[in-house]
Amino acid sequence: MCGIVGYTGPKEAYPIVITGLKRLEYRGYDSTGVALLNDGLKVYKKKGRVAELEEAIIGKDLHSSTGIGHTRWATHGEPSDINAHPHISASGKLAMIHNGIIENYAQLKKELTNKGYKFTSETDTEVLLNFIEDIQENNQCDLLEAVRVALKRVTGAYVILLLNSATPDTIIAARKGSPLVIGVGKGEHFLGSDASPMLEYTKEVVYVNDYELAIVRPNELILKNLGNEKITPFVTKLDMELAEIEKGGYDHFMLKEIFEQPSTIHDCLRGRLDATAGTITMSGIQDNIEHFKNAKRIIIVACGTSWHAALLAEYIIEELCRIPVEVEYASEFRYRNPIINKGDIIVAISQSGETADTLVAIERAKENGAIIFGIVNVVGSSIARISNGGAYTHAGPEIGVASTKAFTGQLTVIAMMALKIAKEKNTISEERYRNLLLELEAVPEKVAAILKSAEDIKAIALKYKDAADALYLGRGYNFPIALEGALKLKEISYIHAEGYPAAEMKHGPIALVDENLPVVFIATKDSYHEKIVSNIQEIKARKGKVIAVVTEGDDIIPGMADDVFYVPAADEIIAPMLSTIPIQLLSYYVGIAKGVDVDKPRNLAKSVTVE
Ligand code: M6R
Repeated sequence: MCGIVGYTGPKEAYPIVITGLKRLEYRGYDSTGVALLNDGLKVYKKKGRVAELEEAIIGKDLHSSTGIGHTRWATHGEPSDINAHPHISASGKLAMIHNGIIENYAQLKKELTNKGYKFTSETDTEVLLNFIEDIQENNQCDLLEAVRVALKRVTGAYVILLLNSATPDTIIAARKGSPLVIGVGKGEHFLGSDASPMLEYTKEVVYVNDYELAIVRPNELILKNLGNEKITPFVTKLDMELAEIEKGGYDHFMLKEIFEQPSTIHDCLRGRLDATAGTITMSGIQDNIEHFKNAKRIIIVACGTSWHAALLAEYIIEELCRIPVEVEYASEFRYRNPIINKGDIIVAISQSGETADTLVAIERAKENGAIIFGIVNVVGSSIARISNGGAYTHAGPEIGVASTKAFTGQLTVIAMMALKIAKEKNTISEERYRNLLLELEAVPEKVAAILKSAEDIKAIALKYKDAADALYLGRGYNFPIALEGALKLKEISYIHAEGYPAAEMKHGPIALVDENLPVVFIATKDSYHEKIVSNIQEIKARKGKVIAVVTEGDDIIPGMADDVFYVPAADEIIAPMLSTIPIQLLSYYVGIAKGVDVDKPRNLAKSVTVE
């Protein structure tokens, strides 16, 4: 969490930094700040959004050709002007921004306090900054050396950018566990948590690795490791356009991303699935096919929406490939001493590829000899790079905090992956295989058809916007979609919602049902249809309001439900990719009706880079 931006070169730094911060605001948005170097350090910071800072500093001296900026998701200390970054060192000579958590900051703070340091904020960042300055003063060394020495004592995660008033064109940067991209321009360099702040200036970027430090000047980029050895920067070409990170006429990124799904799913399938030839081409799977075929089990680790995709993967892979699958919350997996054997396959699913819990979970598993397979959206992200093999979801930048198109991208990859392994393992009949390829191929068109009913979904959403709670129920392949529906509603409408297996609700949640409780059933035509009809009866008998996602042509559930969303018929393995669409739109329209900033809901951040 937190977004960081930096620039050094011949241009004015402030406009680049502030525009970059707006693009990175999805990473955290409770306070904002910039530090500019020009005849000394100028720091402007404020609680609130980037636009509020921008407004507040109109007319100030913003002239500078080297600057850094930060948009914060609070960890240590509440959102406030004082806790906002950048922080200034005790001498006033250094300014620093930080994304991550310094876990041993309390110990460092104690040591510094004993030496007479005073702190103005409650942040771990201010502690690290003064720790660096203290080392520099004691060792009489340059700033890079002080940073290097300091970071060797630090535990936790960080990306830091530092300005030093003594070296006006230089930014010192370092990373461990949080992302840092450096854009290489002509006589200029850009820094960012992702590449979005530099897109219009350069397509050449360097992804900085953990335990690397950078000295960034307009004409020079020096990379070193913590052992002070030089590293040759590896420059890669960005495959991203500015239009992809703009709203493109939509009111919100979330809505744009929901509506992009026919094309993002198509992009995910393109070049991989050929239903006519009966082939799936996925080099990440092919390269590891013997491991997959012989796997005694697959463990999938993920968080949030990606965890819901993982749960659906369990159902699909076990059904089609007959390989046992375990699905783990990354945050639990990383701490609970799981049994990992050499050669075990660990699949990590992550939109951002930067989620701290998922990243550390696979790092641990890799150390124990596991093979890591990443299903990731952000190209070049940490999880993608640490994985032994993988498949990108190709959904393009997802900026709305609520994950939508990345989720359907994950489901698309999972379906292709399961089909490919099943075919290689011979655990699927040729007829079913061919049929599922055709079904997958048809998904973009079916999603487009569902999106045409957005206005109807909006009208239904308005009926339920004042609900205090909601229950989402599904069985089988639709159970993960029930969980996902509940997560989506709570994060962008602040309505308390729970997802449950439909049959499980009679073991407790049914006590909540009365005439005020909307119960959303994900009830497409599948092998559980009759069973879920009974579950709907049970809710109706207790006067609950039933909203049902059903398959077109269903002549039973529409007669029982208060409101219905229709999706085209599909194989039950594929149907969740369709039933999730009305659920996304329902949450979106409820959130909007309640006046929530759906792209940046309270307390959340897009990329959770702290544990
Ligand atoms: O980037 P990741 O997929 O690893 O992120 C995992 C979760 O933080 C994420 O899915 C989160 O739950 C979303 N806000 C859900 O919409």
